[in-house]
Amino acid sequence: MSEEKSPRLYKNQQTADISEAQIAVHWQEEDYFAPPTRFIAQANLTDASIFERFSLDKFPDYYKEFGDLLDWYKYWEKTLDTSNAPFWRWFVGGELNACHNCVDRHLSKHRNNTAIHFVPEPEHETVQHITYQELFVRVNEFAALLRDSCGLKAGDRVTLHMPMVAELPITMLACARLGVIHSQVFSGFSGKACGDRVSDSESRVLITMDAYYRAGKLLDHKEKADIAVTEAAKDGHKVDKVLIWQRYPGKYSSPAKLVEGRDIIVNDLLKQHRGERVDPAHMPAEAALFLMYTSGTTGRPKGCQHSIGGYLAYVTWTSKYIQDIHPEDVYWCMADIGWITGHSYIVYGPLALGASSVVYEGVPTYPDAGRPWRIAEELGVNIFHTSPTAIRALRRDGPDEPTKYSHHFKHMTTVGEPIEPEVWKWYYNVVGKTEAVIVDTWWQTENGGFLCSTVPAIHQMKPGSAGPAIPGIHPVIYDDEGKELPAGSGRAGNICIRNPWPGIFQTIWKDPDRFVKQYYERYCKNPKSKDWRDWPYLAGDGAVQAADGYYRILGRIDDVINVAGHRLGTKEIESAALLVPEVVEAAVVPVADPIKGKVPDLYVSLKLGLQAAQEITDKISAAVVFEIGAIARPHQIIIVPDMPKTRSGKIMRRVLAAISNHLDPGDVSTLANPEVVDKIRDLVK
Ligand code: WT7
Repeated sequence: MSEEKSPRLYKNQQTADISEAQIAVHWQEEDYFAPPTRFIAQANLTDASIFERFSLDKFPDYYKEFGDLLDWYKYWEKTLDTSNAPFWRWFVGGELNACHNCVDRHLSKHRNNTAIHFVPEPEHETVQHITYQELFVRVNEFAALLRDSCGLKAGDRVTLHMPMVAELPITMLACARLGVIHSQVFSGFSGKACGDRVSDSESRVLITMDAYYRAGKLLDHKEKADIAVTEAAKDGHKVDKVLIWQRYPGKYSSPAKLVEGRDIIVNDLLKQHRGERVDPAHMPAEAALFLMYTSGTTGRPKGCQHSIGGYLAYVTWTSKYIQDIHPEDVYWCMADIGWITGHSYIVYGPLALGASSVVYEGVPTYPDAGRPWRIAEELGVNIFHTSPTAIRALRRDGPDEPTKYSHHFKHMTTVGEPIEPEVWKWYYNVVGKTEAVIVDTWWQTENGGFLCSTVPAIHQMKPGSAGPAIPGIHPVIYDDEGKELPAGSGRAGNICIRNPWPGIFQTIWKDPDRFVKQYYERYCKNPKSKDWRDWPYLAGDGAVQAADGYYRILGRIDDVINVAGHRLGTKEIESAALLVPEVVEAAVVPVADPIKGKVPDLYVSLKLGLQAAQEITDKISAAVVFEIGAIARPHQIIIVPDMPKTRSGKIMRRVLAAISNHLDPGDVSTLANPEVVDKIRDLVK
């Protein structure tokens, strides 16, 4: 990769003025690595004929294999119903319960298996090992509380704003038991961001925790719930109850006052529900399991609605065959449950298979970059799953740390962003000690589970490439004119999936039009068609497919930036900046970053007569943190005398992105104000 340091732009004019894919760094094709024979010998999937069984002419029947991994109260009648395309319905007529599938059904054989290892961030605190039996008890008691003390029932929405603690999966599973739709908001998001999601989902109950640890500090978290309720009220939405778990049961760890009649300490109220059991609701396969909000091209985040049957079948199958999880494995996905990765591959997938799943509260590099390897050693973790950003940070801070510990991984995953071959090789050689197979999994919040990845015991690994599509998924790359690029052409285009799959989200909550428009309109062959073949799914990523069939993902083609594997909408950040009275214009562009992949630079111009000042910069930064959270804080805020504009007055983000990335902005002579480009360049470090 070293000889290809300078990013190359390729022509790909999209809806966005500049996209991640356009500033993608291209590295050379790498040699293959073979999966270790010891891994193959024990793998769940070794039969390469699977790809014939899952060929497009056998669609959708092959997905029966996915559904058959679950327990059903009532078996489904129709695998796929396309009559209301593109609102696909999977396993129609079937009835099941996600909590039963993740908890109750394991009791007969695996009652004493650890379901969840909870690792607190402070190293002196005891690790909790929660067996399936204990999980069953705790989920039932909490479900009884939700039903009998809060009046919740199937179909209601509940917003969770919880940190990485065992109580989070317990809360999710209790909701699932009742058929209540959970909407977990990443704990790093601000109270305001939480409030937006509370009102959009019309949650009457908000569930939070008083405090949690991050980088050595016990953070007050309850204060965010107060802001969320106030902000939701501004939208005209009332929250009746705030349920507060205690980080230290029996002790309230937040300075924020409890609001009489609204706030309830869960740990106190639970005493009234001790020993209670709740029968799992028999839910239609097509009912919603959860909402997961994600950023898109407009200011407001959208609630991706995932189904019970299709979603659970998809994450269970991919956990078994791509993650290679067996019930005796100790599996650690170091993502946050506040993102889709955590929903699918910390909670639902591993627990549906009866395995042990690690929930780690804190920062991977706290108190030092050896922490993950100590945890892995102590718990006997043998499957490890994380993002390139975490790998890059661990490599920077502790390149030799993994060699000091006696952990042994059979399988490792990378997800969320492209991984540089150099970083991949450190992961393989040093973290995995050349014993582990690696899968680079490409997918999105909307997808439920993996789309592209090698099948670990079947395919060779190729650093820097996600791999071919997984069994059952049939991608296609289109150019901007809607022509299919020939398979394996090595040319960049927009990656789509030809066929529906059970894990695909059902709709955007309360916004079906946007669902169709954003994901299906662009390459739809006939908007009246009921035939799935006419509705390719637009992922919103640029991609190339090499001659060997492996895909390499270049990044987003829309107004979305992938920061440290987390999706941020440029419009959301711009809207936050525009709330500062001094600001008249704002433009956010993606900048390549050695650790986080991409970071946002924010350009603003001020009201006439105002001068740039630190005070204004601070105000803008504070507005972004209040509206979205610290995760969206811009890398640089650059106050410019004027934005580069076209003659028609459009801000040229492409020029700003080029400046931020130290690239050539190209011909700027046609701008209305070309002279501003040099001035801006001088302002950017
Ligand atoms: C976007 C989705 C999937 C869970 C985590 C992120 C990028 C995802 C890869 C990968 C290159 C990747 C894409 C995608 N992405 N995985 N293996 N290689 N890029 O979920 O927040 O919905 O983001 O992440 O750009 O569209 P998300």
